[in-house]
Amino acid sequence: MKQMAVFASGSGSNFESLVKFWQDSAEAAVRLLICDQPGAYCLQRAESLGIPAFVGQPRQHGGKAAYEAWILQILQEQQIDFVVLAGYMRLVGPQLLAAYSERIVNIHPALLPSFPGKHAVEQALASGVQVSGVTIHVVDAGMDTGPILYQEAVPVSSSDGPADLQARIARVEHRAYPRVVAAYLAGDVVLEGRRAIWQPEALRCVQEGRKEHAPCS
Ligand code: GRF
Repeated sequence: MKQMAVFASGSGSNFESLVKFWQDSAEAAVRLLICDQPGAYCLQRAESLGIPAFVGQPRQHGGKAAYEAWILQILQEQQIDFVVLAGYMRLVGPQLLAAYSERIVNIHPALLPSFPGKHAVEQALASGVQVSGVTIHVVDAGMDTGPILYQEAVPVSSSDGPADLQARIARVEHRAYPRVVAAYLAGDVVLEGRRAIWQPEALRCVQEGRKEHAPCS
């Protein structure tokens, strides 16, 4: 059984989809939420879902290194194997990256390397692209620069405002993120350098949104 932690800073809709995907699973479970924003809606979702939440900020701990040492202690005490960033608005520092090397993933609401960082949806609309999308990648020290596990295109309509495009992207995120994480945990997608090599059936599971991973492998 793989034990996962989710890190979030905001609404937590991806956090909720991840928790629900593994409810009743014998293979993995979301065990806890780390949140750096007191009052964020993800904390209410954690309470409703019965997932323990830990809230902290670097300044309370005397800086980023101490903050991440606090997080690392929680992860180790709770025997967390894998970290899923879901709208966590901070760069992960060297301590956590070393402890969870290639075991931290992130989701970004654009087709990287286009539109990294904050406000990716607004950046895409301002640039006039007609296709944007979702990127799920392994986390490295950079800002949205780690090896890409999965991408999916999302069309942009000429009448879209940020909320329209964000909602279309969110539907793809909620289907794809848990399934890509499940495939990565199962070894159905592996990295060779920066390139992800997929088992074709596992990739189809993500694209088609099939619930059960097992029949696909
Ligand atoms: C998502 O669009 C994700 O791609 C980005 O932040 C957003 C988080 O949304 N990293 P939510 O908090 O999961 O609703």
